[in-house]
Amino acid sequence: MVREEVLAALERRRGDYISGETLAEQLGVSRAAVWKAIARLRAEGLCIDAVPGSGYQLRASDDSLTEAAVRTGLHTEALGRRLLVLRETDSTNTLLKRAYPTAPHGFTVIAEQQTAGRGRLGRSFLSPPGSGLYMSMLLRPSLPLSHLNFLTITTAVAVCRAVEETCGFMPGIKWVNDIFMEGKKLCGILTEASIEGETGSVDFAVVGVGINLWLDRDNLPSEVRQVAGCLADFCAALPRRAILASAILNQIEDGYKLLCTEGTGPLIAQYRSLLCMLGRPVQVVGPYVSYTADALDVDENGHLLVRTESGEIRTLSTGEISIRL
Ligand code: BTN
Repeated sequence: MVREEVLAALERRRGDYISGETLAEQLGVSRAAVWKAIARLRAEGLCIDAVPGSGYQLRASDDSLTEAAVRTGLHTEALGRRLLVLRETDSTNTLLKRAYPTAPHGFTVIAEQQTAGRGRLGRSFLSPPGSGLYMSMLLRPSLPLSHLNFLTITTAVAVCRAVEETCGFMPGIKWVNDIFMEGKKLCGILTEASIEGETGSVDFAVVGVGINLWLDRDNLPSEVRQVAGCLADFCAALPRRAILASAILNQIEDGYKLLCTEGTGPLIAQYRSLLCMLGRPVQVVGPYVSYTADALDVDENGHLLVRTESGEIRTLSTGEISIRL
């Protein structure tokens, strides 16, 4: 479609003017078709300047979340190569599971808003428009079910690195899947899987990432307000959302390749170095228990080792447990 091709051409030359004539020639369409596509893109909210004699430019600061913008920053082989960017959906995780169970490895859905965003342990994940980045990747890992938590670990490390790359600060990880900075939660990760009944092997996994870029604190429920943070609290010049999304996809793919080629060791080392609660007291909260303990380390399986007040060492797997700092 002319709209997509015009947008991709403007994206490649973002911040520069390109004449309608050049665009028409490059794309093999009429100037009227280019003009119509530009008008449509502007109506959709993209910041495109038009100057007689110079042509059109997609403004460098334009933060529209489009497939073309995400693709521009991608260096991946699989992740995000098939990509869907939506204004709104119920939940990007749910959508992938419901509508794309046969999609190829790496298929990614990004939404500007979720009306029924989901978090761990059946909680909801607030996902208002213009506030965050909500994305899910469908993966077809050749991992045993017992190693599925490594997808979460890979993603948590990848998000930290992508934030460092694009925002200039390195957040930490609260076991198992929360990205924190100075005691505030910036991002949550939800990994779900479809298992083959006969073999018990993983058919596909869906890894969802929700990051707060800005927060409208006045309109947050009080329990969320206490813990929620956002990138804008720690970063003077926020990256464009598309740049952040592509950086996350690039980093996840790198981490995933590392996992497939080197096994779990190097990844656990990276994960351990980012955990922000080791050596500190934490509250372990499960469905039937709640106790104070010292967080000691993670083992080779990514399980958390804690020492209870009576001196007993316990190994916590991801399950139903959550940790409060
Ligand atoms: C958590 O903090 O418990 C996990 C939150 C995960 C939220 C992301 S946003 C994209 C994807 N879609 C969802 O419904 N949830 C995940």
